[in-house]
Amino acid sequence: MSEFVIDYVRALQVLDSRGDPTVEVNVVTKGGGFGRGIAPAGASRGLREAVEVRDGGRRFLGRGVEKAVESVNKYIAPAIVGLSSYRFRDVDRKIVEVDGTQNMSRLGSNATTATSLAVVGAAADTAGVPLFEFLGGRRARVLPVPLLNIINGGAHAGNELSFQEFMVVPVSASTFSEAIRVAVEVYKTLREYLKKTYGPGSINVGDEGGFAPPMREAREALKAIVVAIENAGYRAGEDVLLAIDVAASQIYREGFYAVDGRRVSGEDLLELYVELVEEFPVVSIEDPFAEDRPEYFRELKSRLKGRALVIGDDLTVTNAETISRYLAEGVVDGAIIKINQVGTFTEAERAIEVLRGGGGRAVVSHRSGETEDVSIAHIAVAYETKLIKTGAPARGERTAKYNELIRIEDYLSGDAVYAGRRAFK
Ligand code: PGA
Ligand code: ZN
Repeated sequence: MSEFVIDYVRALQVLDSRGDPTVEVNVVTKGGGFGRGIAPAGASRGLREAVEVRDGGRRFLGRGVEKAVESVNKYIAPAIVGLSSYRFRDVDRKIVEVDGTQNMSRLGSNATTATSLAVVGAAADTAGVPLFEFLGGRRARVLPVPLLNIINGGAHAGNELSFQEFMVVPVSASTFSEAIRVAVEVYKTLREYLKKTYGPGSINVGDEGGFAPPMREAREALKAIVVAIENAGYRAGEDVLLAIDVAASQIYREGFYAVDGRRVSGEDLLELYVELVEEFPVVSIEDPFAEDRPEYFRELKSRLKGRALVIGDDLTVTNAETISRYLAEGVVDGAIIKINQVGTFTEAERAIEVLRGGGGRAVVSHRSGETEDVSIAHIAVAYETKLIKTGAPARGERTAKYNELIRIEDYLSGDAVYAGRRAFK
């Protein structure tokens, strides 16, 4: 097992999909195994997330990460060189120990996330198997259903839509690759529809590759997507379902939400969700209320009676304890899993285990600021989460994950299973 020993760790500053600097870490083991991790970055972050360290000052308009890079090279690397990458959970524990804070604020979750992913990647490479197989073993063969964000609003786009994400969920395909084909056909059909209806400026895209049309209301976005699904030759509610991420903390001020040009109470917003689930085949609503209003999540979940999942993101911040509590209290049906919300792979894994143990749904997710790192594709297959969020089928940092899942499906050949409708049973 000496081949798994970490021999070399090196961090450097690279760019994410928004042109912001981010941390990349490269790890080499004694056996020659190589792993690379690159930290993503959120735009609508939860208050209780692990925090990234940025340099401030004038370089990169304050967005530089040279300090975080130095933290890896100066503090993390000496502490983990010589440890076994095979025992990557111990390596993560060491990283947490070196940081010494509750929220990774000393080293930065950008430093720790990139290192953690590089270590587990190097372990898989040393073992000579793909990451999903290294983590999930031979029985890992279920490809997740993608929730593709094809209309962007909120903090991800320069339009007036208050809800952040409007997603399509292709469930009737028999393989992952076919599901992506369906999604692309809907995406392109939506593009034509938007261009015709709102003019050529409406097909510009937001941070996650979805269109950012000059719409004013959630209903208008959902209607446009239903038209696109049908014009593409599919049945909305049968072949393709819908999902939304409100990212409601972003539109919450002093007890009210700014929704589509109106100031609405939590109660009114709840009624709007119930109506939308009745009018449209919406099967999942993420962060419907502000992160400090779990009681509204709970009320919505009880009103929806399982017709749509209530998912936490800013509410749950990939924290195993928080997720465990909210699952037990009936606040959520599941949670978003973002490694940089907790800062290590192992902490995110713990959150996934808690969800599984408590009958909850884990939705492995990208961030709006992404990179060519494809770890989340492997993680979704390894832990059979059956659900993944990684943006529109456009922009390289988003298609990198879809392409990796297509590769995994091909690698598994006849053994691969597409989660499809079962993801919502
Ligand atoms: P973020 O948002 O990556 O910009 O924080 C994504 C999400 O809310 O799911
Ligand atoms: Zn979210």
